[in-house]
Amino acid sequence: MTITQEHVEVDLLRFPTGFRWGAATASYQIEGAAQEDGRQPSIWDTFARTPGRVFRGHTGDVACEHYHRYREDVALMAELGLGTYRLSMAWPRVKPDGSGPVNIRGLDFYDRLIDELLAHGIDPMITLYHWDLPQTLEDAGGWTNRDTAYHLADYASAAIGRLGDRVATWTTLNEPWCSAFLGYASGDHAPGRQEPTSAYLAAHHLMLGHGLATQALRAGGAREVSYTVNLSRVSPLDPADHHDVAAATLIDGLQNRLFLDPLLKGSYPADMLRLFDRFGARHAISDGDLAIISSPIDLLGVNYYQPALIAAQVGSPGNKVYPGSEGTIDAPHGLPVTDMDWPVDATGLSDLLLRLSADYPGTPMMITENGAAYVDTVVDGRVADIERIAYLDGHLRAVHTAIQGGADMRGYLAWSLLDNYEWGYGYGKRFGLVRVDYDTQQRIPKDSAYWYANVIRQNGLTA
Ligand code: NOJ
Repeated sequence: MTITQEHVEVDLLRFPTGFRWGAATASYQIEGAAQEDGRQPSIWDTFARTPGRVFRGHTGDVACEHYHRYREDVALMAELGLGTYRLSMAWPRVKPDGSGPVNIRGLDFYDRLIDELLAHGIDPMITLYHWDLPQTLEDAGGWTNRDTAYHLADYASAAIGRLGDRVATWTTLNEPWCSAFLGYASGDHAPGRQEPTSAYLAAHHLMLGHGLATQALRAGGAREVSYTVNLSRVSPLDPADHHDVAAATLIDGLQNRLFLDPLLKGSYPADMLRLFDRFGARHAISDGDLAIISSPIDLLGVNYYQPALIAAQVGSPGNKVYPGSEGTIDAPHGLPVTDMDWPVDATGLSDLLLRLSADYPGTPMMITENGAAYVDTVVDGRVADIERIAYLDGHLRAVHTAIQGGADMRGYLAWSLLDNYEWGYGYGKRFGLVRVDYDTQQRIPKDSAYWYANVIRQNGLTA
């Protein structure tokens, strides 16, 4: 359509009415205040303190000091016109030892934050688990222990019991693939274990926890329950080579289908069950688990950053983040990359969303994370982050293409509102729409923030 703006005719690529626009963050990445008000250590506090695990030994002890600066941050969100803010709660604030008594002072923080958001007309979406598992639970086996799934559900009940009157949308897990495979197979993330069997046990227990937490959230009156996964378009290097196709199918299973089919189809894919068998993890799947795991959800959260290109190679040990991927390799893309070295290809997102709508029909979806790290520079108090704008613009066009193709997309959340603690990379990678000066805690909206505010205002992109 064409609208008139300050006497200039602007063609717009419009998003559906009611499309939700916002940004996302996570507790350990922004809050700081790691020892305050009764919070106890999570696996990330421990991991970050283990020499050699995180870039320059950075920790989330201070991070963006959001715990104390949340009012300023919410004011910023309002200035940018965000309608939705996806935050995560720190389990070790709410239940410091994971399973025992609730810490009221921990819940008080989220109570204050939610009220502040609502006062600014911003809809909160709460993720229960964005990787900060209470250390006490890890000491009892972490996600390899089935009990952890039940503890997640108890924590969900405590959270909705306090905030359910004001928070409509609840997300159980963020990126269980990372929790299971980076946490327990490659060891790149906390708890830093390199045990393939444990990774499969963790994957199952995480999804079981999701199902139990979904039931607890429903019992607590949740209006919308969601689950967020990091998915990718996984393509064979040579689509005419059946070895490459088989290799890509395996990686697609490990990255995508393993974390979708149990929830949305009520069963594990056959090729993934073979891996549970091979790694001695099949015994963890008890009768009745899949019925719990497939408890209906209202929204599938999709985090998308990069596509994958896979080839077969005889003798390759595979990728340690995918136990069971021997004989496969990641093929070079020949595409521009972000500061994470992640290839940029927005067609990966439109293809992925269309594939999801074909394979899991009737599932409303939301982009719960998308964004890019680049090396930003401040010149005269301004960050002209044109590469990030190009990334976001391209990916939003891809979302629009998917909507045109029939994908049921309910919203888009940029990762991230603020520069923050990028896990193993510490503060070395910046994904924010808003720059954070970690010495002064000054916030500077980057050009991408102003650009995004305009997209939100128009509910569309300039064509
Ligand atoms: C996914 C994670 O959910 C988030 O915590 C992380 O910072 C971004 N991707 C970027 O890597």
